[in-house]
Amino acid sequence: MKNTTFTKFAAAFLLLGSLTACSSPEPTQGDWHVIPLPKEISETVGQRPFIINEPTTICFPKGNEKMERTAHFLASYIKEVTGTQVQVATQATQNCIRLLIDNNIPQKEGYQLDINSDEIILRGATEAGVFYGIQTIHKALPVTEGKASVSLPAGSIKDYPHFGYRGFMVDVCRHFFSVDYIKEIIDMLALHNINYFHWHLSEDQGWRIEIKKYPKLTEIGSYRKETIIKAGEEERDGIPVSGFYTQEEAKEIVRYAAERFITVIPEIDMPGHMMAALASYPELGCTGGPYEIPTCFGVFDEVLCAGNEKTLQFAKDVLNEIMDIFPSEYIHIGGDECPKIRWEKCPKCQAKIRELHLKTTPKHTKENQLQAYFMGEVEKVITSRGRKMMGWDEILEGNPTKSSTVMAWTSPEATSRSAKLQHKTITCPISHLYFSNPRWNELRGLNSIARVYNYTPVPQGLSEADQKNIIGVQGCIWTEWTKDSVKMEWQMMPRIAALCELQWTDPSQKDLDAFTQRLQHQLDLYTAHEYNYKQDIYEASIHFNPVEESQHATVSLTTFDKVPIFYTTDGTTPTTASPCYKKPFKVADGTQVKAIAIRNNQLPSPVSEATWNSPKEN
Ligand code: ACM
Ligand code: ZN
Repeated sequence: MKNTTFTKFAAAFLLLGSLTACSSPEPTQGDWHVIPLPKEISETVGQRPFIINEPTTICFPKGNEKMERTAHFLASYIKEVTGTQVQVATQATQNCIRLLIDNNIPQKEGYQLDINSDEIILRGATEAGVFYGIQTIHKALPVTEGKASVSLPAGSIKDYPHFGYRGFMVDVCRHFFSVDYIKEIIDMLALHNINYFHWHLSEDQGWRIEIKKYPKLTEIGSYRKETIIKAGEEERDGIPVSGFYTQEEAKEIVRYAAERFITVIPEIDMPGHMMAALASYPELGCTGGPYEIPTCFGVFDEVLCAGNEKTLQFAKDVLNEIMDIFPSEYIHIGGDECPKIRWEKCPKCQAKIRELHLKTTPKHTKENQLQAYFMGEVEKVITSRGRKMMGWDEILEGNPTKSSTVMAWTSPEATSRSAKLQHKTITCPISHLYFSNPRWNELRGLNSIARVYNYTPVPQGLSEADQKNIIGVQGCIWTEWTKDSVKMEWQMMPRIAALCELQWTDPSQKDLDAFTQRLQHQLDLYTAHEYNYKQDIYEASIHFNPVEESQHATVSLTTFDKVPIFYTTDGTTPTTASPCYKKPFKVADGTQVKAIAIRNNQLPSPVSEATWNSPKEN
């Protein structure tokens, strides 16, 4: 299929516009090259585009409630982005966007768009496919907010996702977020074609979901009296943090997400990260407490007692209520960061180890195997209800059942290890896909995006069969230092745009340069939806490349949109009279580089600065 660039057609269209300059102004034209990039875009050169105006009607098949809802979503996106209120109906007319199911499309989340001046036909293999099709229309719209009419180029699109699991995790335990805000997050995920919302609901610092059989979990466990102000320091802020979701509220979130074709995966993290539960029910721990909900962060020695039948029953009861609320096939039971120091001394844990004849092997300590036993018992409850257990990659330390799906977070290598061990694996390494990681939050401008975009979800060197075990990619936000929606969104965006291309777009189409050319429009959509994205994307990124066998480095300066950059190397503030960056240049050890980016009709970007310090030999 012939691929043309939109710009050629736009130029022809603009020329036509100028020839008929006396008539009403030409509509502002959209672009199908959205994020994530669809698999195939063919634009029909010379054909008139589809114009969106008030008589435009979105048609859905009569009696199909999901499609009706989807049609209304599209109408609301069009209103929000372009200011035009279109119609929704079951009757096809001229000037309509027709939503259809087409069983001939082989991929279950796939869709096709055919666009001409009379109509847009959107065919989805399923209702989910149609939903991703309307997201593409949504993102192809120019952001005019009522200032101009809009059109979409004629042509056709064929699209389907690369990964079936496209996830995003939010921790609501370190800080609590309201039901309304969780819905907004779900809208943000929908904009990025994400189909799993992993909801981290229990932690040391707070228990956030109502469990009817254990009411103290929320009466006591959802309240923390204050929080550390800075990592590693003693000072506390004196501000209580509390809040939990009732079961009805959680069901409402499940419904809201399902309407957007997003599955909510609940996580109850065990047997570690359980201090809030232990503070509520001290008899569940090895020592019997007393326990206090921590006001600082980290990994705590106090964990559930894996040798106590009552504790196991607690875990099973909690998960049974969780499965009543959440219909998700996957149920996440954590398994990360569980120190074994209490188990090594606990008579109940040691008795259980003896009863199970667990012996330390070169690969797995007997306490790690006790964790595998505990998780395995819990897994039985999950599988007995037709669900699947998911856990963080530390569960591999205890030789878990192969049916467990592993979320590989500790490193990219953990993804390979898990896949080689024949576990279905989701890759979400702390080094690339933890958007709350303070170290990576310091990256500014294009560097911050490139860190995510350049991650390779399926590592080299795996056999084809092992590669197939990697079923998805996920971004995560832990909220130790995320107290409000502004910081939440600042961490998510625009990195989530890079994430969604890793999840959706074919790796053969991966191209950072091409991606960044599509990014400004995504940023405009964030503005239209009033999302708070990380503004330093507009700054110049400074990158040092060490020159071998010298203490010099080569400096590259970039912006995502390739605008002019002016720089200094003498510590002074750059202006437009400073050297304009043309190509990488060499600097000596200790040189401070400062740079500004200049965009048409705008003030200079904030100054970025970095100093080259060559690695010193010991
Ligand atoms: C984790 O970050 N402890 C899963
Ligand atoms: Zn114990």
